[in-house]
Amino acid sequence: MRYILCTMKILITKAAPDRLRTKPSGDKALGFGKLFSDHMFLMDYVEGRGWKDPRIVPFGPLALPPTAVVLHYAQEIFEGLKAYYAKDGGICLFRPERNAERMNRSATRLCMPPVPVEDQIRAIEELVRIDRDWIPRNHGASLYIRPAMIATESALGVHPSTEYLYFVVTGPVGAYYARGFEPVSILVEENYIRATRGGLGEAKTGANYAASILAAKEAKAKGYDQVLWLDAERRRFVEEVGTMNIFFVFGGELVTPPLSGSILPGVTRDSVIELAKEWKIPVYERPVEIDEVIRRAEDGSLTEAFGSGTAAVISPVGAFCYRGRESRVGDGKVGELSLRFYEGITGIQYGEVEDRHRWVHRVE
Ligand SMILES: Cc1ncc(COP(=O)(O)O)c(C=O)c1O
Repeated sequence: MRYILCTMKILITKAAPDRLRTKPSGDKALGFGKLFSDHMFLMDYVEGRGWKDPRIVPFGPLALPPTAVVLHYAQEIFEGLKAYYAKDGGICLFRPERNAERMNRSATRLCMPPVPVEDQIRAIEELVRIDRDWIPRNHGASLYIRPAMIATESALGVHPSTEYLYFVVTGPVGAYYARGFEPVSILVEENYIRATRGGLGEAKTGANYAASILAAKEAKAKGYDQVLWLDAERRRFVEEVGTMNIFFVFGGELVTPPLSGSILPGVTRDSVIELAKEWKIPVYERPVEIDEVIRRAEDGSLTEAFGSGTAAVISPVGAFCYRGRESRVGDGKVGELSLRFYEGITGIQYGEVEDRHRWVHRVE
C-alpha cells in the first residue's frame, strides 16, 4: 500500500458568492448536525497509487455508484471534534491529533488506508480557516468537524475496497447546555448490545451506531435520555453510555470501565483521567458490574456518575433504571466532581484555565 506523505498541496475551489449558504442569525436555534458550512475537504485513494487530489470544494452531494462497497458492507469510519473561538479570539481545536490517531486505528480495523495524522490536521485547519465565519461566537457553541472515510470501489463481492474517499465537513452547533447543566436519566439496556469484544466496538464506524439506534429509540419512548450498554457476553459489566464513556464516583474514588476492546477510547475520557491524576483524585480503570452500581446507588456510596464525550464534554447522570426499578445517583442533582471536570475541561478549551497538558491546538 502507498499513502501520501505529510506535505500535501490542497487545491482550493471556493464557492461563488451567490452560492454561499445562508448562515443562521443567532446561536440559539443551531441544534446539532443540521446545518453545514460552505466548503468540504475531499481526497481519493486508489490502491497502488495512494492518496491523491486533496481538495477543498463547495459543500455538495457526492457522486457514488449504487454498487459502492460502503453502501452494502458498511466499510466506513468517522471522527468528531470541534473548532471554537477561545476567550482571546483565537480559533482552537482540542487534542485533534487524538482524533486523527483514532481514525487511523479505526482504519486498520476496517482494512482501510490510514491518512497521516499531520495531513488530517492540515485538512481540518484549512477547512476551518476557509469557513471561519461559520464558527459561532457564543460561549459553548462551536463548529462541529466530521472527518470520514468511505469505501468507494464499485464491486459487490465482500472484500476490502481498492478505492476510498476521505472527506471532512463542518457545521455550527449550539451550546450543549443552552438550558443549563442538567442531569440525565439512563435506562440500563439488557436486551440489545452495542458491540462485542473482537467486534468493532473500539472503532468509530457507522456499524456500531446502526446497532445502537433501536435501543436508543425505545429508551426515548420510555422517557429516558440514553441507554447504558452492558457487555455482550454476560450483560453484567458496564461498557459505556449512549455515545459517551461513563465514570462513577464511588466513595470519593473515580472509576471507569477499562478499554476492553468493545468500547470507544474517548478523547474526553482520557482528558478526565489525566485531570483526575493532576488533581490527585484517585482514579481507577476497572471492570464495573451493574449490580455494584445499583447497590451503591441504593446505599448512597455512589455519589456521582457522568458520561464523557466531545458533544456534551460531561453529562451528569441523575438516575439509572435497571430491571424496571429506578435508582437515584447521589441526590439526583449535578455532583461536585461532574461540575469540576466540566469546568476544568471547558476552561482549558476556551483559554480560561492554563493549558498545562498542551491540549489546545491553535489554528493560526
Ligand atoms: C460510542 C462512543 N463512546 C464514547 C464517545 C466519546 O468519545 P470522545 O470523548 O472522543 O468524543 C463517543 C463519541 O465520539 C462515542 O460515539
